[in-house]
Amino acid sequence: MGKLDGKVAIVTGAARGHSEAVALRFAQEGATVAICDVVPVEVLEKQVGSKIRQAGGKVICFQTDVANEDQVNAMVAETLAQFGTIDILANVVGIAGPTKDVWDMTLDEWKLTLDVNLDSLFLCCKAVLPTMVEKRYGKIINFSSATGKQPLTHRTPYATSKMGVIGFTRTLAADVGQHNINVNAICPGEHVDRSLELARGRAEYLGNPFDEEEFRQRYAERRANDKAILAGRWRAEEGFIDQSSGSEHAAALALFLASDESASMTGQDINTSGGIMW
Ligand SMILES: NC(=O)c1ccc[n+]([C@@H]2O[C@H](COP(=O)([O-])OP(=O)(O)OC[C@H]3O[C@@H](n4cnc5c(N)ncnc54)[C@H](O)[C@@H]3O)[C@@H](O)[C@H]2O)c1
Repeated sequence: MGKLDGKVAIVTGAARGHSEAVALRFAQEGATVAICDVVPVEVLEKQVGSKIRQAGGKVICFQTDVANEDQVNAMVAETLAQFGTIDILANVVGIAGPTKDVWDMTLDEWKLTLDVNLDSLFLCCKAVLPTMVEKRYGKIINFSSATGKQPLTHRTPYATSKMGVIGFTRTLAADVGQHNINVNAICPGEHVDRSLELARGRAEYLGNPFDEEEFRQRYAERRANDKAILAGRWRAEEGFIDQSSGSEHAAALALFLASDESASMTGQDINTSGGIMW
């Protein structure tokens, strides 16, 4: 018996990364999943939908821009039409946005990051909440970040949006607790591919040279040797788990938050950081 048997879940930004892992995990545990991404639906179908079906799961794929209200509403309406209800919403989607100082950034760059990372939460929650309120049941899981709790240089819109995800989560949780709806946030730690993108973006912006091989080597060495407490970062020597934060770890927490076992948890922002404290 799966932990999400009989449940219907929407998972956003599911063509890759954390969201793909969440969608696969939910489906493995018996949920029917509606997954969406901006990529063409055939791509989503091929990359993720087919994996879920091959494993015996039930899935519907959408090409949806989660910052577009009409597209979000159409996805939610079609999910309701096909599956009759929505129990779980995992707002995983997130973009890094520009790697620049504020004075070099355009208003459009700022807005795009906030649209995708924050408006999407508002739009998806607004669309599913009437169903959840009516049935007095719902689990909403929002993806923030380590950057939801600390600055990330040259990425003001990303950091602002991820801090906003925590504010949105806490406030919505307070509003909908009376309807038996849980709202929580997950804060994944760093991931080598995203750290690589950030380092490359910073180097390009600052006009510094960048060598991917050297970066990967130094990243691996740092992980192996970084055993001190550095600015609040507790590492393996002190007895904490020294493990990279993978999408599977965030997906495992998402599963717990989506299940009935998380009944008393709401308004929380939980790190999957391998022992790093924020
Ligand atoms: N990977 C990390 O290191 C890390 C660390 C901390 C937090 N996070 C957070 O976890 C979440 C997932 O991160 P990831 O690195 O797995 O993401 P990713 O970049 O691997 O995937 C994001 C997906 O979202 C899709 N997408 C982009 N814009 C969209 C839109 N407007 N509508 C619909 N889909 C859209 C992309 O096509 C892509 O498939 C994000 O919210 C991110 O901020 C990630």
